[in-house]
Amino acid sequence: MACVGHIQQGLWRHPRDRATDYNKLDYWTGMARTLERGLFDGLFLADVLGIYDVYGGSPDAALREAVQVPLLDPMLLVPAMAAATQHLGFGITCNLAYEAPYLFARRVSTLDHLTGGRAGWNIVTGYLDSAARAMGLQRQMAHDDRYDLADEYMDLVYALWEGSWAGDARARGEAMGAYADPARVRPVRHQGAQYRLDAIHLAEPSPQRTPLLFQAGASDRGRQFAARHAECVFVNGGAKPAVASLVADLRARANPRPLKVLVGATLVIGRTEAEARDKLEDYRRHASVEGALAHASASLGIDFARYGMDEPIETGPTQAIQSNVEAMKKAAGPVFTKRGLIDRFILGSRQPPIVGSVEQVAEALIGWVEEADVDGFNLSRTVMPECLEDVVDLLVPALQERGAYKRAYAPGTFREKLFGAGPLLEAPHPAAARRFT
Ligand SMILES: Cc1cc2nc3c(=O)[nH]c(=O)nc-3n(C[C@H](O)[C@H](O)[C@H](O)COP(=O)(O)O)c2cc1C
Repeated sequence: MACVGHIQQGLWRHPRDRATDYNKLDYWTGMARTLERGLFDGLFLADVLGIYDVYGGSPDAALREAVQVPLLDPMLLVPAMAAATQHLGFGITCNLAYEAPYLFARRVSTLDHLTGGRAGWNIVTGYLDSAARAMGLQRQMAHDDRYDLADEYMDLVYALWEGSWAGDARARGEAMGAYADPARVRPVRHQGAQYRLDAIHLAEPSPQRTPLLFQAGASDRGRQFAARHAECVFVNGGAKPAVASLVADLRARANPRPLKVLVGATLVIGRTEAEARDKLEDYRRHASVEGALAHASASLGIDFARYGMDEPIETGPTQAIQSNVEAMKKAAGPVFTKRGLIDRFILGSRQPPIVGSVEQVAEALIGWVEEADVDGFNLSRTVMPECLEDVVDLLVPALQERGAYKRAYAPGTFREKLFGAGPLLEAPHPAAARRFT
């Protein structure tokens, strides 16, 4: 995330951390090069519109602790990183609720062109009232209504990316001494519940047309949405059996379409177990409980400042991230309290790290793949850039030795690299049905 504190709150205070350089281009190009050296499939760029002002009814804690504020626009980072790499994919988060489909579709096509087909989009609808107020509304749409809005939005952007220009508009144009054959370019016309549009897509077809689609659908409505649209799904870590059943459910719902499921993980790796434990203690001294509470309050839609340490926390229906509330209730034990929540913060987040020697961490990740049927990991940063260098220089070789990690990139676009098929979405994905061939 193009900010100082993303998931592990407070670690920017660690003397070796460089996250405060988030507003410098070499921070991003350096990161991209390191990831490509480690054959990472992609860099996931999270994004959230609005400020975290649920904790204590104020943005003060978020500002003091740099909890996802200040925050830059992730899309604008991508061309520089693409120029510094050849293979790395970019999973860019964009909240569709505040983006006109016509403009957004062109920006994504631009990135897919400029990156040679390495653009991905993490489809989100937001969870903050502060974002709605920033956009002139009183509050955000209700949870399930946001997914309905997103379904209509997807239909529209598919039509722009896939259905406005025929694949041969250029070739036919060239054959007649023109740039494009006007008969092979047509407007998209849409009159829906939320959107109206009558336009030709401004960008000609990019390598993937529709970017590689990511989503994190974990509530019932969220899973339904993921099953229809997502190619890659982010799931939170947690108890392995619970993640395994979520993964099985997502796969069953998306069937016959294949899904790549990526589980969240935070790694603290040492050459030995003792070194990893020392590193954890060193990092831990900088973790911020206040920052983690500000983050949790906003994502769960619960103001933890209003509760005493041992007071049971009421969790009514939330308009924020429903699956996070369910996960916290389960993890915190029979009674959900602020003390129970804080006890789970180890590195300033709700995500407990996997800590161990290179071999132990490698085995732990392989265990996740074998037991929970995940396809890969969405690693959250700790101290930058050493956390990435530990993965690239220590963990990747250990995984390669075990036959659990690739030794070279596959050719092609982001989609081709991950799925081994063609660059475009295929039936029964709804985008394929929109294609002007
Ligand atoms: C790993 C992961 C990353 C996410 N990243 C973002 C993000 O960058 N921006 C955002 O607005 N929501 C993000 N979310 C939230 C999801 O978009 C979505 O709201 C949530 O996972 C599912 O919510 P639901 O359980 O209420 O359906 C993320 C969720 C997960 C699990």
